[in-house]
Amino acid sequence: MTKRIGIIMNGVTGRMGTNQHLIRSIKAIREEGGVLLSSGERLLPDPILVGRNETKLKALAEAHGIERWSTNLEAALADDYNEIYFDAQTTVRRAASIRQAIEAKKAIYCEKPTATSFEESLELANLVKEAGLKNGVVQDKLFLPGLLKLKRLVDAGFFGKLLSVRMEFGYWVFEGDWQPGQRPSWNYRKEDGGGIIVDMFAHWRYVIDNIFGEVRSVSCLGVTHIDERIDEQGNPYKATADDAAYATFELDNGAVVQANSSWTVRVNRDDLLTIQVDGTEGSAVAGLRDCKTQHRVNTPKATWNPDIENPHRFLDQWDEVPGNQDFDNGFKVQWELFLKHIAEDAPFPWDLFEGAKGTQLSELGLQSWEERRWIEVPEIKA
Ligand SMILES: NC(=O)c1ccc[n+]([C@@H]2O[C@H](COP(=O)([O-])OP(=O)(O)OC[C@H]3O[C@@H](n4cnc5c(N)ncnc54)[C@H](O)[C@@H]3O)[C@@H](O)[C@H]2O)c1
Repeated sequence: MTKRIGIIMNGVTGRMGTNQHLIRSIKAIREEGGVLLSSGERLLPDPILVGRNETKLKALAEAHGIERWSTNLEAALADDYNEIYFDAQTTVRRAASIRQAIEAKKAIYCEKPTATSFEESLELANLVKEAGLKNGVVQDKLFLPGLLKLKRLVDAGFFGKLLSVRMEFGYWVFEGDWQPGQRPSWNYRKEDGGGIIVDMFAHWRYVIDNIFGEVRSVSCLGVTHIDERIDEQGNPYKATADDAAYATFELDNGAVVQANSSWTVRVNRDDLLTIQVDGTEGSAVAGLRDCKTQHRVNTPKATWNPDIENPHRFLDQWDEVPGNQDFDNGFKVQWELFLKHIAEDAPFPWDLFEGAKGTQLSELGLQSWEERRWIEVPEIKA
């Protein structure tokens, strides 16, 4: 037996909406015949694509075999068939639409950050809770193969006492003059919800909390390295938001996390995100898909001596962590879990409170930068 579930997908003509949520997640789940529930039934997502531009919506729907699309959000919300409201609009538009969806008693699922301020993120989390609505936020990095392998090592006690974590994230985003920028221009305008601290700290919060320990304090320096860029129409604009952030976090277990986030760095490492973890018993380095380890007993003896040729090939002194399982697209895996949460109350810990924690860390990072000091991260009370 197959049951259908109506999902309003708002902001689906955007970069994330189209590629990750529609094509890689919902369309892929539909092609597999829906999500298999524990009852043996299948739950088939039946999306209605919602946005402003009729031509774009129609073309997107036709290209991916979707029957329903609309420019009328109110009408889609008024239809009881649609049980879930999903939002991948630009961040500044998210809170208002989620409020409408809460009024309409829909289950809520959305991209991060859940709102542009911590206050509003927390308010949304409280509103859905009071309304008794199921809810969730995208925390896709947790489902990356490299990070799942890292989590496996932590759970196995591989590291011993966790000492430090170095996260290196970034790549060069073209300025838009002689090559188009590969990210939307709003990312570089503070007034439109842009900035790498707002974007990436929402990820770092759940990555750190879920894998390494609870974040207790933050020190952050933001920079706008490139202050003029060219937009999608070919017009120059002033970049008012930070395009790099150099941050340090202290965790409740004493570990220190350093995170460099940058859209103004050229890649000379194995992946766009690499995370090195050092512990008393061993170390690991994870990328998006791979993870390698060096145990205490396999640690070569390094000695400082620039007077001779380097006898070590350091990068060859690590062992690959095997996959041992199939890894599917992270966005899709999280969609499947959310759909099971809706259909059969399966656990789904990544709710709007978790989302609010991300916005909190971004806001405290910005405050740390502005005031040039360490800031404590208070616990959030529901
Ligand atoms: N999980 C992740 O890894 C990840 C990565 C990138 C972006 N994001 C988040 O996803 C969201 C979208 O980012 P994106 O890069 O896809 O942006 P985008 O600019 O490509 O897409 C934004 C979407 O919002 C819609 N929109 C913009 N203004 C609107 C308006 N006035 N009225 C109605 N619709 C409007 C656009 O039509 C488009 O569908 C952001 O909140 C961003 O933080 C998440």
